[in-house]
Amino acid sequence: MTDLSDFIARLPKAELHMHIEGSLEPELMFALAQRNRVEIPFDSVEAVCAAYQFSNLQDFLDIYYRGADVLRTEADFRDLAAAYFDRAAADGVVHAEIFFDPQTHTDRGIGFDVVMRGLTAAMDAAQARHGITSRLILCFLRHLDEAAAFATLEAAQPWLHRIEAVGLDSSELGHPPEKFARVFAAAAACGLKRVAHAGEEGPPDYVHQALDVLQVDRLDHGNRSLEDPALVERLVREQMTLTVCPLSNLKLCVVGTMEEHPIDRMLDEGLRVTINSDDPAYFGGYVNDNYRAAAEARGLGRDALVTLARNSFLGSFLPEAEKAALVARLEEYAARA
Ligand code: ADE
Ligand code: ZN
Repeated sequence: MTDLSDFIARLPKAELHMHIEGSLEPELMFALAQRNRVEIPFDSVEAVCAAYQFSNLQDFLDIYYRGADVLRTEADFRDLAAAYFDRAAADGVVHAEIFFDPQTHTDRGIGFDVVMRGLTAAMDAAQARHGITSRLILCFLRHLDEAAAFATLEAAQPWLHRIEAVGLDSSELGHPPEKFARVFAAAAACGLKRVAHAGEEGPPDYVHQALDVLQVDRLDHGNRSLEDPALVERLVREQMTLTVCPLSNLKLCVVGTMEEHPIDRMLDEGLRVTINSDDPAYFGGYVNDNYRAAAEARGLGRDALVTLARNSFLGSFLPEAEKAALVARLEEYAARA
């Protein structure tokens, strides 16, 4: 494994499924709580870590939204994202497409502009410092209603030049993609790409809706697509990128053990799957920890790892020429390592 672990460490890769609020490490949570004089329901970093035991998605979301309450100022969002980029760069990430949940902040009275100024400052600094390119994906919270999503799209208007896509996250069950059909159509009319969490806990029908109703360009998770062979065939045929998150799947009990993770089955089916960290501060690891955990449990070799990294570039929203340059860099690494 050490050999493979080293291979993963320097493997050039893109990360396509990472919620910036989910990269809030307990240490930074405490520092921001102090800086902003916000009460948090923990008295030590150890207590925070001990609380990170989840039996499903909702369990996690309850604690994740509480953690996000320490984020108040432009500097907080900048520091949060800067910490992620430093960590991602150390993992060989050369391009990141990151989710943010504006409603989690605007509902607490934090301005949309405050969030955007902080995140974009960190993105620009990361490009200068590490050479990492990045894009932002604005996620609508699906447990909230359509009107709230429309209000968020409205607030985003002055920032469209810094937003690549819209996404759909939060509590999946009971909140099917079709609930957001009209707001996704409006986002498309604004020139935004579309992604959605589907098939994490929700049934294959939610994946169909994400494709047919929301017209997504990429699918987040998608694990439960495997229950529907015709759907798998379609995803393969359309070369739809799936952003799979192994440690998240384990922590949220989407799989019982990592040994049961279907990542190799997905690859064998011909699905364009990628590996991502989802909420690294909550699920026990950043992107390379996810590659390593999946590789170890499912016996992935170098070829599979290179395919996963190649998929991350091909499935990104970069222009074709930049994708090709990154794939070439990857192939060169694979030939030499
Ligand atoms: N928000 C942050 N992480 C999420 C996940 N894994 N699923 C849905 N919403 C999320
Ligand atoms: Zn996610």
